[in-house]
Amino acid sequence: MRIDILTVLPELIRSPFEASILKRAAEAGLVDIHFHNLRDYTTNNYKSVDDYQFGGGAGMVMMIEPIDKCISKLKSERDYDEIIYMTPDGERLNQGIANALSLKSNMIILCGHYKGVDQRVRDHLITREISIGDYVLSGGELGAAVLCDAVIRLIPGVLGNETSALTDSFQDNLLAAPIYTRPREYKGWSVPEILFSGNLPEIEKWREEQAIEHTVKRRPDLLK
Ligand code: ADE
Repeated sequence: MRIDILTVLPELIRSPFEASILKRAAEAGLVDIHFHNLRDYTTNNYKSVDDYQFGGGAGMVMMIEPIDKCISKLKSERDYDEIIYMTPDGERLNQGIANALSLKSNMIILCGHYKGVDQRVRDHLITREISIGDYVLSGGELGAAVLCDAVIRLIPGVLGNETSALTDSFQDNLLAAPIYTRPREYKGWSVPEILFSGNLPEIEKWREEQAIEHTVKRRPDLLK
């Protein structure tokens, strides 16, 4: 998978890709991330990417020209499955969206700043708008990092144990069951006996019951 990230603050989004699973995925050639600074696509002397709003109003608006120039250049080099704009009024990210995007080959992710982008970018250049939650970030970069992490870990071969993404919370609309490791007893806090029974079907049944109970308590909305 190739991901092109368009931003005015590349330094804000680079570090998550230089650590942990995302770094390993890149080193293994499973994902290829490219950062593009939109200031490199400006034509004015000040390299400004934003301007005042027509009609008045507080807050600057990202101009269409640098964004269009960057996207056009990328599109002339390859086809893209999605051109995503990170915005709080987009479709709310969930595991289903991450699963679907993990099957794509090439994606562009546009990070907004200031008040947002000129509406014509959204009307004519973008194929999908994604929000990571009902709160406003100062820019789309951290949202793009969250989206990339959720998607990249699902690409086959990225996680060591192929099955571990399948047992994540949300994969079956259930939260994950509790998990334990050594020591068996700590400060008098013990691990449920069933996990030492050696009876795999019974353990699976217990995990499923726990997952359902956990979901009913914390996220009943997932069961509807
Ligand atoms: N940009 C600003 N806020 C955002 C959010 N909640 N999700 C995605 N991108 C954003």
